[in-house]
Amino acid sequence: MSQTIDWSDEYLVGLEEIDVQHKRMAELINNILKISYKHRPKEELLESMDMFLRYVKWHFGCEEILMKAYDFPDYTEHRDEHVVLINDLINKKHEMDKKILSVNDLYSFFFGWFGGHAFSADKDMAPFISIRISNL
Ligand SMILES: [Fe+2]
Ligand SMILES: [Fe+2]
Repeated sequence: MSQTIDWSDEYLVGLEEIDVQHKRMAELINNILKISYKHRPKEELLESMDMFLRYVKWHFGCEEILMKAYDFPDYTEHRDEHVVLINDLINKKHEMDKKILSVNDLYSFFFGWFGGHAFSADKDMAPFISIRISNL
């Protein structure tokens, strides 16, 4: 299948543990897309979405701990953005439960979610924390 999130260095934010987690997020999204592409039962699709949601919640928690630990000034805005991103996923999961979404629809959604929102704020936060860590 062609429609997957292809990891590229453009996604790197410069903080290794966060980059590793983002890579894993791309893999979990691709797993969802693969299940959709193969027309697997809906339960499998929803379970893959739950797996992704669990991972994303954990990942956002890791970022929030780092931001707090290193006094990132835009902590509140960033945390609020995480809440919106989680809600977007929960809404999409409900939509997936109600109707069959094409793999194209899902790809567009996840591509936007992953490449757009998810990294715009992280690209500000990660360099700030890297500098703080290197000055310890
Ligand atoms: Fe983030
Ligand atoms: Fe992130």
